[in-house]
Amino acid sequence: MLLAALFWCFLSYCKVSVTVPTFKQRGDSATLTCDFDLEGGKLYSVKWYRDNEEFYRYMPKLRPPQHAHLVDGVKVDLNKSSARRVHLRDLTLRSRGLYRCEVSKEAPSFHSAQAEAFMEVSYFPREGPLIHGHERLYAPGEPLNVNCSSACSFPAPDLQWLINGQKVTEKSLLQPYAPEVASQGLLVSTLGLRAPATPHMQLSCMASIGPHRRERTVIIEINSSSTTSAFSLTMVTLLSINIKLYEKLL
Ligand SMILES: *[C@@H]1O[C@H](CO)[C@@H](O)[C@H](O)[C@H]1NC(C)=O
Ligand SMILES: *[C@@H]1O[C@H](CO)[C@@H](O)[C@H](O)[C@H]1NC(C)=O
Ligand SMILES: *[C@@H]1O[C@H](CO)[C@@H](O)[C@H](O)[C@H]1NC(C)=O
Repeated sequence: MLLAALFWCFLSYCKVSVTVPTFKQRGDSATLTCDFDLEGGKLYSVKWYRDNEEFYRYMPKLRPPQHAHLVDGVKVDLNKSSARRVHLRDLTLRSRGLYRCEVSKEAPSFHSAQAEAFMEVSYFPREGPLIHGHERLYAPGEPLNVNCSSACSFPAPDLQWLINGQKVTEKSLLQPYAPEVASQGLLVSTLGLRAPATPHMQLSCMASIGPHRRERTVIIEINSSSTTSAFSLTMVTLLSINIKLYEKLL
């Protein structure tokens, strides 16, 4: 497949390049550009495909020169499209895919060349993730039983716990769960935290999709009147030293 593409490229001197936004959110618009050098030849057609389905073509000989085809999730705004660009409106989760531009020269050569790039479309509401299980009092050193769950999103957000601003990387303190499917194919990510409770503990959970982030912070309350044995205090200290050391190593 790749070899075939390279060979194709070689034959036609590969004079086409595309710019496709790598990351968009549902409801956004997107402008895709296709740049080409005909080396003195005349343009016959520019065709755009999403996952091999043609959705737009520009042929200078036709009146009007532009034509859009109905493809699920691909709404072309013809007024803002031309030979070298195509403007898409109202992106949906079905707009994600591989976008390819194919440029052909006029007779006699009819040489064509193409370039392609992937566009991811996400849905990431403004709400931060939710933390459950922090509402009760914890005894010092008691393992936390808290979960962080993202809002319904697509794709499933990555989750990260922070204790007092430091990322938790120690796997034994984390409890990953498989993403849950919500309505409309949206996904909820959940990550549990089982680190031992310490005084003045600030927990943050960060959800991210690509460059976008949402965060939530809570404070863990320690039951100061609960009796603490020397042993469990030592364990807490050792564990938190371990976490710090582990983070320094990374
Ligand atoms: C495109 O432009 C025409 C004429 O200016 C206008 O009537 C039409 O509503 C426009 N279409 C869109 C999708 O903006
Ligand atoms: C954490 O999430 C898991 C999976 O959804 C659930 O089984 C568990 O009861 C949750 N725990 C808390 C403290 O919410
Ligand atoms: C705090 O700890 C003490 C001693 O273990 C216990 O009697 C008390 O019920 C705890 N308070 C709460 C609110 O859990």
